[in-house]
Amino acid sequence: MKAITQTLSELVSQAFAAAGYDPGLGAVTASDRLDLCQFQCNGAFAAAKLYHKAPFAVADQVAQVLQNDSAFSKVEVAKPGFLNLTLDDGYLLKQANAITQDPHLGIPQAPSPAAIILDYGGPNIAKPLHIGHLRSAIIGESIKRILRAAGHTVVGDIHLGDWGLQIGLVITELQQRHPDWRCFSPDFDPQADAVQPLTAAELNEVYPLASKKSKTDPDYAQRAHQATYELQNGRPGYLALWQEIRRASVADMKSNYQKLGVTFDLWYGESDAGRNIPRLMDILDQKKLLTESDGAMVVEVAEPQDKAPMPPVIVRKSDHSSIYATTDLATIIQREEDFHPDKIWYVVDNRQELHFTQVFRCAKKAGLVPAETELAFLGFGTMNGTDGKPYKTRDGGIMKLEDMIATVTKGAQEKLEASSFVDEADYEEMARRVGVAAIKFGDLINQRAKDYVFDLNKFFSFEGKTGTYLLYTVTRINSILKKAGAPRDPAAPISRVYTDSERELLLKILMTGDVFQKALGEKAPNYLCEHAYQLAIAFSKFYHDNRIIDEPDPEKKQSWLSLIALVRRVLCLLLELLGIEPVEHM
Ligand code: ARG
Repeated sequence: MKAITQTLSELVSQAFAAAGYDPGLGAVTASDRLDLCQFQCNGAFAAAKLYHKAPFAVADQVAQVLQNDSAFSKVEVAKPGFLNLTLDDGYLLKQANAITQDPHLGIPQAPSPAAIILDYGGPNIAKPLHIGHLRSAIIGESIKRILRAAGHTVVGDIHLGDWGLQIGLVITELQQRHPDWRCFSPDFDPQADAVQPLTAAELNEVYPLASKKSKTDPDYAQRAHQATYELQNGRPGYLALWQEIRRASVADMKSNYQKLGVTFDLWYGESDAGRNIPRLMDILDQKKLLTESDGAMVVEVAEPQDKAPMPPVIVRKSDHSSIYATTDLATIIQREEDFHPDKIWYVVDNRQELHFTQVFRCAKKAGLVPAETELAFLGFGTMNGTDGKPYKTRDGGIMKLEDMIATVTKGAQEKLEASSFVDEADYEEMARRVGVAAIKFGDLINQRAKDYVFDLNKFFSFEGKTGTYLLYTVTRINSILKKAGAPRDPAAPISRVYTDSERELLLKILMTGDVFQKALGEKAPNYLCEHAYQLAIAFSKFYHDNRIIDEPDPEKKQSWLSLIALVRRVLCLLLELLGIEPVEHM
């Protein structure tokens, strides 16, 4: 189905043509003054310039044509030339019922679906998953779902940080603690020797300590660099230990991401880029892009129009080790080879923007992807505490994702305790959903690139723009539908517009396709959050104004039930696009 403004634009364009004007002038937008009209077209102003006429005269001519169109109940020209449009209730109902029948529930489908790789999550193995990675996971998951809902093919890749200095640090610390482990011996034999099993809890303790030590002990730091280098150059004992670190870490990550309702199609990491690094260096060499700088190999990526200094990108350090940019470039080679994607998008913290600008420029210069492949950085802002500084735990540390999920689940449990609806057996699962909805919505409602304040008290409120309020709205509709009982025909259309609040609700439903396209175009789930909230508010008003369950007129009651069933479906779809799972009762 087309978005409603698209459908209306076509009608109005025809009217422009019929009045003798360029049909391209008939673009319709939603009105922000519902007291005046539902939709509007401002094309008469551009027409006035083109045809040397007064805008009012043009709008008036177009309005004459539209008067005869049964889609509109009111077509008015407001000075100096606005075309104000109000839909006929019959047309409104026809559109709403078409949404009910549409397999995509009114979500416009992409005319030519693209193949997109979405790089999000980006946690680092051996380090505890912390809330710094929460935003990437939440935003990335939602963008993936939005793209898929429009019919695009998306491959989500977690791109683990599994090849860097953090591994060298963990190796160094473990070596110090367990010098007798076979994996540290130079004659380690991967066929015959085994590696000690590790746990995520152990790694969570080892890494922060090693990282701290390396900052004050230069010798320790040097050993960690050496271990990283040897690992990257294939020392068998380190490789085997690394595999165990990766296994333990990934198992832990998977369980946390699962609780968050975040999934990935690929669990590749920086290490997988390793085999493409020699090829990358060859390509850069052949294209004469490499220059030496203090023993390191770099690629110049500055462009004449740059306003700020653009440093060259380092692809090989003086000790011959590869770094972050190297693995990202080599990963592009791999992605191009495996998927030949139309777009590769990265959902990463704003603070990495420069890195990605360098990587993208270098990739294009080197022809790692065709010129038309879109490489895009989808940056996000910092999650701050109520003090306005980057969010920390009470003792000033970085909050682990696991603890965060436990905190919100507990918070939700307290909310649910007051409810008599939730069965004992479902309790934990319901609390998890309510908790995760609170943090996801609290995050996604903010414009992606902006910093925001993480405030659980606010996120858990039953009022205002919160995940809790939206889940609650769905449960209210559930219970009305349930109480209304048997005679409801699920396929029955909404048959009439009986009240004003109903018209507003229908209009909100109709706008879903438009809002979706905006969210898709700007890669911005916040529009869907806002729309879900507006829809919930419109439902509340409608419900407040009308006694659905006690309604004696069966036709009216049936129509209302069909309407709220549709509201429920649209709300649930919006929540799904945000990665939020609804609950039955609350
Ligand atoms: N692991 C990185 C970090 O923690 C994020 C990875 C983002 N993706 C990428 N392709 N570089 O900062």
